[in-house]
Amino acid sequence: MIVVTGATGNIGRPLTRALAETGHQVTAVSRHTAQVPDGVRHVAADLAEPAGLKPALAGAKALFLLLSGDLHAIGARPADIIGEAAAAGVRRVVLLSTLGVATRPFGRTRIEMRALEDTLRESGLEWVVLRPGGFASNALWWAESVRTQRVVAAPFGDIGVPVIDPADIAAVAAACLLEDRHTGGVYELTGPEVITPRRQTEAIATALGSPVRFHELTRDEAKAAMIQSMPAELADDTLDILGSPTPAELRVSPDVQQVLGRAPRPFADWAARNVAAFR
Ligand SMILES: NC(=O)c1ccc[n+]([C@@H]2O[C@H](COP(=O)([O-])OP(=O)(O)OC[C@H]3O[C@@H](n4cnc5c(N)ncnc54)[C@H](OP(=O)(O)O)[C@@H]3O)[C@@H](O)[C@H]2O)c1
Repeated sequence: MIVVTGATGNIGRPLTRALAETGHQVTAVSRHTAQVPDGVRHVAADLAEPAGLKPALAGAKALFLLLSGDLHAIGARPADIIGEAAAAGVRRVVLLSTLGVATRPFGRTRIEMRALEDTLRESGLEWVVLRPGGFASNALWWAESVRTQRVVAAPFGDIGVPVIDPADIAAVAAACLLEDRHTGGVYELTGPEVITPRRQTEAIATALGSPVRFHELTRDEAKAAMIQSMPAELADDTLDILGSPTPAELRVSPDVQQVLGRAPRPFADWAARNVAAFR
């Protein structure tokens, strides 16, 4: 049995489906009850309380571990999740980390994620670490203004990063959960090309078959909008990456190709599959 945390999110949904399609028993974990694919067991649990994961982990051989961004902020101890997994007899953990651990190692959340990576490496379990860059699904931040005004309002319109399709992260995670050859791997996951917000807007317009205007926000305007839904420190961090990506953040990684034997999908594919959110 394989346990998938974050099972109802951008990565967890396609991952749960892909694992279930291979015929494996899958337990999907999230706090809220949710529809899961036929044959998948759902267990409601909060990662902030690792002991509460016992019913989900009982009998599991592998765990996909995805932490929501605010777990450390609320004083949770994610390292205890790895202890619970080991105690339950889990043999392999695939950890969803972030590229920032390598490219900007000094922020608080990244120091904590690096420490979690180290805990996993030292746990005696089989492990794989996935370090994705920015997600294509971050474009969902624009969905409401595209639906209501056919506008994308974003900062740094002509500065891009190679955003990755969460479905590709899910496909890599499935391979790492199922195939022995990835044990001890640290994979940096990006899309196939650097793409700017202005070009992402064009891809959304193409998917919709209708024009969408791009409106460039100042950094301060963008921060004011972002802090409605995230801590100011995280907003500043995100804006630093979006406005001044480092060479390592601009690099197109070969790792998706290496794991899956195919190139990562371009943003236009993600936009076409998710066009309903923008209609
Ligand atoms: N967005 C980016 O550009 C980017 C880049 C690098 C890394 N990341 C990392 O990617 C992860 C987000 O992945 P995603 O986009 O697939 O997530 P998502 O779509 O936001 O979904 C989050 C999932 O986690 C569950 N969840 C949230 N808090 C939980 C808790 N306390 N206990 C149990 N389950 C919880 C949610 O369900 P419930 O709400 O029902 O619990 C949901 O299933 C984060 O760890 C983030 O740091 C993101």
